[in-house]
Formats: sequence, structure tokens, C-alpha cells
Amino acid sequence: MANVIQDPATHPTAILGDFSTPNPLVTFRKEEVAFTYGSKWKQRYFTRRGDDYFAFPAQWDVQNKTWRRYYVEPGTDWWAEHYPADQMQRPTGPLCDGCHSVNYDIKTKAVTEWNVGCEKCHGAGSLHVEYPVASTIVNPAKLDGERADDVCIQCHSQGQPRRKPIDGVYYDWPVGYQPGDRLSDVWTLEEHELGKDTFTHWPDGSAHKNRMQGNDYVQSQMSVKGVRCFACHDVHGTPYEADLREPGNAICLQCHGPQLQPGPRGTIEHHTQHAATSEGSRCAACHMPLIARTVGNVNVRSHTFTFTFPVATDRDGVPNPCTSCHTNRSTEWATDALKRWPSVSSWRVAK
Ligand code: HEC
Ligand code: HEC
Ligand code: HEC
Ligand code: HEC
Ligand code: HEC
Ligand code: HEC
Ligand code: HEC
Repeated sequence: MANVIQDPATHPTAILGDFSTPNPLVTFRKEEVAFTYGSKWKQRYFTRRGDDYFAFPAQWDVQNKTWRRYYVEPGTDWWAEHYPADQMQRPTGPLCDGCHSVNYDIKTKAVTEWNVGCEKCHGAGSLHVEYPVASTIVNPAKLDGERADDVCIQCHSQGQPRRKPIDGVYYDWPVGYQPGDRLSDVWTLEEHELGKDTFTHWPDGSAHKNRMQGNDYVQSQMSVKGVRCFACHDVHGTPYEADLREPGNAICLQCHGPQLQPGPRGTIEHHTQHAATSEGSRCAACHMPLIARTVGNVNVRSHTFTFTFPVATDRDGVPNPCTSCHTNRSTEWATDALKRWPSVSSWRVAK
């Protein structure tokens, strides 16, 4: 999380996009890039005009190594109607920088530092530097209930500020929020209507877009029972994918298994009906499918921790994990198989 934004003047290797062959989407030169934004899924390019930054209208799809258009169409994201249609008149200060820097000041447009620095999650640190004891800093692990996850959800969500506009400007991030506050006092999560496929949500209410782990997770029983984002992730860095505390199924099996309260009751093979080492036995494959679109066909994982039955795909188009992996099979095939699974209720399969 520490290196999303880089200045190509000091980090010449930061630019991943291919500028060597002309491409009609790429209307700008490498030399005009003040900042690169992102490196894992997609990279966008900022340029400076006056005291604001703007994102050029093309982005590099890192995984497919190709250029794609970057433009938020009117009628999609809530803020689009409050901004000119021209991409180069949509400043990144109100639309991006609050989540991609520390202490973005809406009056001076200055930041303490770019990227996700310590103070973004631990609050102001100067007193702590002077008096380095636990009581002079916010430790998210010691916050009550939702306030702990709010530290993450301030950035990992699609929402709208409760107060808008502020001095005539529409911000797409929770202006004024500090770790330890209750985020819902200043921020609302994007609404969804069951049965409707929208810019942000699938018809079942799960995230259709990236950066919605918070929107998803607050719906989960795990969140209700007090399991926090940082039970699974250590944001200070780990050797594993997505900064997980343990790799693969190990992260889930700390709390789940036949002897443990949250279940499931049987062995892994009994629960998943695949060999324990099969891809079809990975907890995340069925409970965290890749359905939240970030760029092109590249998706990130759902965080509702439900299971989408194949009938839901027929009913309203939400992808189900079975036929997303078994791409040559039908939803009827998957439903028939599931009806024979010992730990699945046939009432729920046909729902
Ligand atoms: C993205 C949010 C985030 C950022 C950025 C972050 N932290 Fe943390 N930090 C947390 C959370 C959440 C916890 C509590 C859970 C845990 O220990 O991981 C924590 C806990 C800690 C702890 C207590 C660990 C313990 O053993 O009790 C220390 C010390 C700490 N962070 C230092 C830092 C420093 C120094 C930085 C900057 C280099 C930093 N953190 C950046 C979220 C963050
Ligand atoms: C200031 C905004 C901000 C906050 C606060 C924040 N994140 Fe992030 N997070 C980001 C951004 C931006 C990225 C994308 C990083 C990149 O592309 O390198 C990210 C990426 C991640 C990733 C993926 C890392 C990877 O290598 O795939 C995880 C996991 C994550 N964040 C978890 C958390 C958790 C848990 C918390 C709360 C303790 C948290 N984040 C708080 C902005 C934030
Ligand atoms: C509400 C907070 C928030 C706002 C506003 C926001 N981002 Fe992000 N952004 C994140 C988080 C969190 C992630 C990583 C999680 C994810 O994508 O699922 C991310 C991911 C990204 C990535 C992908 C990083 C990678 O390594 O692939 C890019 C590029 C990016 N943001 C650019 C922007 C731009 C440009 C804007 C403004 C138009 C913007 N963001 C607005 C929080 C935010
Ligand atoms: C820190 C402990 C902990 C970890 C780690 C954990 N879980 Fe859970 N999980 C729980 C608890 C507690 C419940 C709620 C049980 C209840 O409601 O009785 C739960 C419930 C669930 C449920 C039930 C459905 C629902 O609505 O939430 C699923 C599915 C699930 N977890 C999947 C996972 C997966 C997949 C992983 C690994 C990525 C995982 N869990 C990691 C503690 C944990
Ligand atoms: C092949 C798909 C698949 C895989 C892989 C899978 N599950 Fe499930 N899981 C299901 C289905 C189907 C249900 C029943 C959902 C329902 O009734 O709504 C379920 C339900 C659950 C539940 C809640 C009810 C119960 O049975 O106690 C938990 C907890 C759970 N799974 C945890 C896990 C864990 C942990 C893993 C990894 C070891 C895992 N699952 C792997 C398909 C899967
Ligand atoms: C029960 C465990 C668990 C909890 C709780 C959890 N995550 Fe995750 N998260 C995972 C797993 C597993 C992955 C997928 C890693 C992989 O692809 O191998 C993941 C992936 C991610 C990613 C990377 C994007 C992607 O989908 O690959 C981000 C960002 C993220 N989580 C943020 C969060 C935030 C923010 C919260 C709290 C609102 C949260 N997570 C809660 C287990 C968890
Ligand atoms: C991430 C990929 C993945 C997911 C998700 C998955 N499977 Fe599988 N499945 C496999 C693989 C790989 C095999 C081959 C045998 C093995 O490795 O266990 C398999 C084998 C099977 C078989 C036996 C062979 C056949 O093709 O008839 C059935 C039946 C099956 N899966 C049903 C399901 C159902 C139902 C679901 C959803 C609940 C599901 N699978 C989810 C990967 C997956």
C-alpha cells in the first residue's frame, strides 16, 4: 500500500505503460507525467496544471499489458454530474487524493505525504514522537467495534460524504475523518437496491466494482461477530498475497473447522466435495469469488463471504463460483451436483 503514487523523475522505472508504440488512446507524452498512480492492477497518469493535478484519459491494464480508456461517464459515479465532461477539468484533489495521501488539506491542497502513511491509520503522530507511549497514538486494534474497521473503510469503500458540497466542491472521500472517529458520521456507503444491477452493485447487493471491500464486509456475519479486516490482513506487510497473515486456506482454518464454533462441521473434502488439494477446495474460490471489476476483465475478490448459488445466476446474472471455474458447464449441472452435496440444504440450492 506504501507505493501507489510515484514520481517518475525520481523513480524512472515507475512507468509501466508502453509509450514506445503510438496508440490512439494515449494523447500525452511520458514527459508530461507528474505522478504514476498504481502498479498492481492498473496504472493511471497525473499531470500538473496550476495547483491541481489531473488524470490523463488512458490507463495501463497491468495484468493484460494493454492500454484502456480512462473516463468516468456521466450517469455512473455519483459525482460525475457535478463536474465538466472534459476529463482534464476533473481535479484529483477532490476526487482521488484524500485516499491516496496523508492529511490532504482542502484549503491549501498540500499533503503531509503521498500514499498510505502511518498517520492515515494511526492519527496524528507528533505527540507520539515527543512522548512515545501507547496513549499518545491510535491503535486500531484497541478501538471499539466498527471504529476499528472504519480505519480501513475510509478508503476501501464507495460512498458519499454526508456534507456536500463543501465550499462549492464535491469530494469523493470522507473529508475530516480521523482514525478513532465513527466514519458513518461523515460518510454514507453507496446504496443498492436488491434485484438491480448498478454501477456499483450486483443485483444481490455484493460489490460489482473495486475498492468496495468495506461495502461488502459490513454485510458479513464475520463483521457482525467482531472479526476485523486486520484479523486476516497485516497492512504493515507480510510475505503473502494481499498482505494476508497466513497464506491460502490457513488464514480461514484458524477459526473454521469441524471442532470450531463457526464450522463447517465436516472435513474439507466433506464440505467442498473436491479433493483437499484441489483448486475447488480453496475457501476463497467459493466464498470470495473474483467479481468486483477493477479494469477491463481484471476483478478483485468479493468480501461478503456468502455463497452465490447457481440459480441466482439464472435469476439475475450474479456470477456463481461453480460455473465461473467450470466454464464449460451449465448452471443446471452445478445445481444438480450441489443437490447431492451432504452439507448443503436442497431448499437453499433451489431458492
Ligand atoms: C493501512 C493502515 C495502517 C498503516 C498505514 C499503518 N498501520 Fe500500524 N497498525 C494498523 C492496524 C490495523 C494495527 C492493529 C492491528 C495490527 O497489529 O496489525 C496497527 C498496529 C501497529 C502497531 C502495534 C503493533 C502491536 O504489536 O501492538 C505499531 C507499532 C504500528 N502499527 C506502527 C505503524 C507504523 C510505524 C506505521 C508507518 C510506517 C504504520 N503502523 C502504518 C494499521 C496501519
Ligand atoms: C489511505 C487509504 C487507505 C487506508 C486507510 C487503507 N488502505 Fe488498503 N489500500 C489502499 C490503496 C490505495 C491500495 C492499493 C495499493 C497498491 O496498488 O499498491 C490498498 C491495498 C490494500 C490491500 C491489497 C494489497 C496487495 O498487495 O494486494 C489490502 C489487503 C488492504 N489494502 C487492506 C487494508 C486494511 C486491512 C486496512 C485497514 C487496516 C487498509 N487497507 C487501509 C488504501 C488504503
Ligand atoms: C475513497 C477512497 C479512494 C478514492 C476517492 C480513490 N481511490 Fe484509488 N484506490 C483506493 C483503494 C482503497 C484502492 C485499492 C483497493 C481496490 O482497488 O479494490 C485504490 C486503487 C487504485 C488504483 C489501482 C492501484 C494498483 O496498484 O493497481 C489506482 C490506479 C487508483 N486507485 C487511482 C485513483 C484515481 C485516479 C482516483 C480519482 C479519480 C482514485 N483512485 C480515487 C481508494 C480510493
Ligand atoms: C478470526 C476468526 C475468523 C477467521 C480468520 C475467518 N473466519 Fe469466517 N467466521 C468467523 C466467525 C466468528 C463467523 C460467524 C459465525 C456465526 O455467525 O456463528 C464466521 C462466518 C463465516 C462464514 C458464514 C457466512 C457469513 O455470512 O459470514 C463464512 C462463509 C466464512 N466465515 C468464511 C471464511 C473464510 C473464507 C475465511 C478465510 C478467508 C474466514 N472465514 C476466516 C470467524 C473467522
Ligand atoms: C466448492 C465450494 C466451496 C468451497 C471451496 C468452500 N465452501 Fe464453504 N460453503 C459452500 C456452500 C455451498 C455453503 C452453503 C451455503 C448456504 O447454504 O448458503 C457453504 C457454507 C459455509 C459456511 C457456513 C455454514 C456451514 O456450513 O457451517 C462456512 C462457515 C463455510 N462454508 C466455510 C468454508 C471454509 C472455511 C472453506 C475453506 C476450508 C470453505 N467454506 C470452502 C461452498 C464451499
Ligand atoms: C476473513 C478474512 C478476511 C477479512 C476479514 C478481510 N479480508 Fe480482504 N482478503 C482476504 C483474502 C483471503 C483475500 C484474497 C487474497 C488472494 O487473492 O489470495 C483478500 C483480498 C483483499 C484485497 C486485495 C484485492 C483482492 O481482492 O485481491 C483487499 C484490498 C482487501 N482484501 C481488503 C480488505 C478490507 C478493507 C477488509 C475489511 C473491510 C478485508 N479485506 C477483510 C481475506 C479477508
Ligand atoms: C476454482 C475452481 C473450482 C471451483 C470454484 C469449483 N470447482 Fe469443481 N472442480 C474443479 C477442479 C479443478 C476439478 C477436477 C477434480 C479436482 O481437482 O478435484 C473439479 C471437479 C468437480 C466435479 C467432478 C468432476 C466433474 O467435472 O464432474 C464436480 C461435480 C464439481 N467439480 C462440481 C463443482 C460445483 C458444484 C462447484 C460449486 C459449488 C464447483 N465444482 C466449484 C475446480 C473448481
